[in-house]
Amino acid sequence: MSFRVAVLPGDGIGPEVVAQGVEVLRQVAAMAEVGVELQWGVAGGRAIDEAGNPLPDPTLQLCRESDAILFGSVGGPKWDNLAPEIRPERGLLRLRQELGLFANIRPAKVFAALVDASPLKRELVEGLDIVTVRELTGDIYYGEPRGVTSIEGGERSVNTMVYTTAEIDRIVRLAFEIAQQRAHRVTSVDKANVLETSRLWRKVVEQVAQDFPHIAYEHMYVDNAAMQLVRAPKQFDVIVTGNLFGDILSDEAAMVTGSIGLAASASLGHRTALYEPVHGSAPDIAGQGVANPLATILSVAMLCKYTLKLDALAGRIEAAVEQVLAQGYRTRDIQSSGTTLVGTAEMGALVLQALG
Ligand code: IPM
Ligand code: MG
Repeated sequence: MSFRVAVLPGDGIGPEVVAQGVEVLRQVAAMAEVGVELQWGVAGGRAIDEAGNPLPDPTLQLCRESDAILFGSVGGPKWDNLAPEIRPERGLLRLRQELGLFANIRPAKVFAALVDASPLKRELVEGLDIVTVRELTGDIYYGEPRGVTSIEGGERSVNTMVYTTAEIDRIVRLAFEIAQQRAHRVTSVDKANVLETSRLWRKVVEQVAQDFPHIAYEHMYVDNAAMQLVRAPKQFDVIVTGNLFGDILSDEAAMVTGSIGLAASASLGHRTALYEPVHGSAPDIAGQGVANPLATILSVAMLCKYTLKLDALAGRIEAAVEQVLAQGYRTRDIQSSGTTLVGTAEMGALVLQALG
């Protein structure tokens, strides 16, 4: 068996953290005797500089021909003033759309060694384990019409929130399936007191739920969900929601765990899947070797689970990360008194060592 993985390090700290993720991927592939063929591509700001396009055709082609993509992060001040159509982020949004990556899975788990890194009280977050299942190819991110027109006295801007039954059905179904492997609870988040798209969302959730009689589910308004996530986050197991609400809530859930530097994600679609840390390109610390590679390494664990179907290896990567944290090693973003400060490469090497 052999898998093709496209590696798109991107901008800022992307290349540094992805380099560590690649080492872990190489090691687990060797351990499992699975062939993994790696090929590098350019994306984001670097691709704008080199090819005038944040997702050049050869990169898209490479991704289409791959089983998985390991993605770093894109963007930076250098490209902030470009037109929206060629900004680095647009490359990522187009990649999601072109590959039909409709399901974004973002776990938020509190590691025992890092309970005190959370801005919330220990008892609120100890043992916290949430998964946000975010719809990723619809909603106001892609809805038409969109744009800005001139009107008397200024401009008028439009974005459109849109969802179809089929789009809602497939993401909600996936969330219920994920809940079956977990604590059997689904919270569907919407704004049905105001939005038509949310009312359709609710209706479809009701229908899908009929097929999963053993899953307890509830509906929650997004404003309340944002509040509950900081009031009593352990009430959640699987959260399923649309693209925009999911963008916001998954950042909030990640922060509740203590550091966005540990938040991994998988974006699944019809064939190729994309794995990336939730954090951004952090241009302020890029190139210094201080970034936290653990979110990328945990994204590699998700790659093992969803693409390579090696659940046991995914578990071993997570356990290795847990062990290194328990031994007191910390990158700068999660450092606290009494712990040992390490850089990006050192942290990667420690995880490799723990993997054995
Ligand atoms: C994310 C990011 C992206 C999004 C940006 C970079 C376009 O915030 O993956 O959550 O909004 O989806
Ligand atoms: Mg986001």
